[in-house]
Amino acid sequence: MKLIVICALIAFASTAEDKLFSEKNYERPEWVPSLNLFNGSFSPKLDHFNPQDTRTVNFNYRLNLEYYEANGPLFVYINDGEQYTTEWIERGLIVDIARDLGGAVITSDHRYFRLNTATETSSFENLRFLTVDQALADIAALIATLREHLASDFPKVIVWGTGYGATLVHYFNATFARKKYPHLIDGAFASSGLFRAEVEDESYYDNLSYNLRRHGSNECHARVKNAFDVLEYLIENGEADYLTERLQLCKPLEVDNDQEVGFLVERFIDYISAYIKQHK
Ligand SMILES: *[C@@H]1O[C@H](CO)[C@@H](O)[C@H](O)[C@H]1NC(C)=O
Ligand SMILES: *[C@@H]1O[C@H](CO)[C@@H](O)[C@H](O)[C@H]1NC(C)=O
Ligand SMILES: *[C@@H]1O[C@H](CO)[C@@H](O)[C@H](O)[C@H]1NC(C)=O
Repeated sequence: MKLIVICALIAFASTAEDKLFSEKNYERPEWVPSLNLFNGSFSPKLDHFNPQDTRTVNFNYRLNLEYYEANGPLFVYINDGEQYTTEWIERGLIVDIARDLGGAVITSDHRYFRLNTATETSSFENLRFLTVDQALADIAALIATLREHLASDFPKVIVWGTGYGATLVHYFNATFARKKYPHLIDGAFASSGLFRAEVEDESYYDNLSYNLRRHGSNECHARVKNAFDVLEYLIENGEADYLTERLQLCKPLEVDNDQEVGFLVERFIDYISAYIKQHK
C-alpha cells in the first residue's frame, strides 16, 4: 500500500517539477518605472471614525501627468493586493484612455502596505486601524484633498481597480461615493473584482477541478486529485521527513501544525491555479 502511495507521490513530484516548478514564466517580472511620476502626500486621519482621535498619518501617492491636459479627467487607481507597482498608472487600458482624453492617473496604496504605513508597528493593537472602511475613507481623503487643491484642474474623477482593488472600488462606489459623498467621484470601473467573499468557501476548488478537466483532461484531473490524496495520507501518517525531502522544503515540515500544513497545501493549489491561468 505504502509503495503505491509513494509512487503516486513521486508522480506528483515529477509532474510538479517538469511542468510547474521549472516554469518560472508566470512570475511577472518586476516593473521598472519608466515615467517621471510626481510624488505627493496627503494626511488622512489614523482613525476616520473616532472624532476624539485627532491623529493623522502621512500617506504617499504617485501621479502620472505625462498625458495630462488642462481640465482632463483624473483616474484614481486603487492598487490590487499584490506587490506595490506603478505599472498600471504608466501603461495599460486606463492609461491609453487617459492618453486619449488628456487625463492624469494617480495611485496611492492601501494603509499598512508598502507606501502607506499607518502605525510604527503592526502590533495586534495597532492593526485595529486596518479595516476596509478605514481604507475606503483614505481613498475619500485622497480624492477630497486633490479636489480641494486642484478642483478646477480635475473636473471629473473616476476610481478604478483590479482584483482586491476592484472589490474596494465597488464598495467605495456603493457606499462612500453614492451615499456619503456623492460629489466625490463621477464614475467607477472594477475589473476582476472579488465579490460575495465567504470564509471557507469551497467553490473556488470546485472551479479549479472543473478547469482541470476542461483545459486538461479527466486523466489530468484524476492525477492531481490523486496527488492531493497522497499528500493528505502522508501528512496524516506523520511522514514529515519523507515529505520534507521529496518536496525539497526549506525547513522540516511540522505535520501537526495545521497552519503550516494549510500553507503548504495552499501553495500547491496556487501553483496549479496559476498554471491553468497561464496555459488555458
Ligand atoms: C518618487 O519616489 C520614487 C520612490 O521613492 C523615486 O524612485 C522617484 O525618483 C521619485 N520621483 C520623483 C519625481 O521625485
Ligand atoms: C457604481 O454605482 C453605480 C450607481 O449605483 C452603478 O450603476 C455602477 O454599476 C457602479 N459601478 C461599480 C464599478 O461598482
Ligand atoms: C467555473 O468557472 C467557469 C468559467 O468562469 C464557469 O463557466 C463554470 O460554471 C464554473 N464551474 C464551477 C463548477 O464552479
